[in-house]
Amino acid sequence: MNIAPFAERLQQCHLGQIEAHLAKLSAEDLAFCFFYPATMDSVRERYLARLDPARDILLGIQIDGDIAALAHLYVEQHKAEVGLTVLPEYRERGLGEQLFEASILEARALGCSQIAIETRPDNAPMIALARSHGFAVGYDYGNIAGRLELRPLAPAGMSLWTLHRLLDVGAGLWRSLFGCAPMDKR
Ligand SMILES: CC(C)(COP(=O)(O)OP(=O)(O)OC[C@H]1O[C@@H](n2cnc3c(N)ncnc32)[C@H](O)[C@@H]1OP(=O)(O)O)[C@@H](O)C(=O)NCCC(=O)NCCS
Repeated sequence: MNIAPFAERLQQCHLGQIEAHLAKLSAEDLAFCFFYPATMDSVRERYLARLDPARDILLGIQIDGDIAALAHLYVEQHKAEVGLTVLPEYRERGLGEQLFEASILEARALGCSQIAIETRPDNAPMIALARSHGFAVGYDYGNIAGRLELRPLAPAGMSLWTLHRLLDVGAGLWRSLFGCAPMDKR
């Protein structure tokens, strides 16, 4: 099994894989995500057609070329909401947890002050994930809503990937100036 080491930010070129990921979910899984009896036709029309990876924050963990786990982070006015899906064959192995943590980190890196989830009361794994990450969880109009207050990780508007890239550039500059990596002992 070839597992990408960590969650990556998905781009336009991943749209086909995102559709393939959603097509592998059961009707019950789609209902957990979209809160209506969704079919792949309605998901294509109401979700995929409007998806814009340049604007929407999509994180994925790839295994053997498939997106095994997918997170969509909706960000509005410094508040994020995250939705997660893991393909049935990869569940209960910690991928949901890994992607949930990456989503929380990304929301912090974007300067969000809060991250939320909303799910159905019978979604035990999602509720377990929210509780174990310190979310305040309660009933909200028949669903379960969870919220976590966040401290910013990086200047507002800068994604974690941008921060990593800036650190890489800085390390490269250091190496060219001093001939060693910043943390190397000489
Ligand atoms: C929710 C979902 C993303 C979890 O993914 P996963 O990879 O199986 O999750 P993990 O293996 O990382 O486990 C996460 C937590 O759920 C718990 N869990 C996993 N499966 C469970 C189950 N069937 N019943 C109860 N708890 C369960 C784990 O013990 C773990 O709890 P912890 O954080 O307290 O240790 C996955 O079940 C899924 O895709 N469901 C369908 C779509 C969905 O409901 N998305 C959420 C919409 S908001």
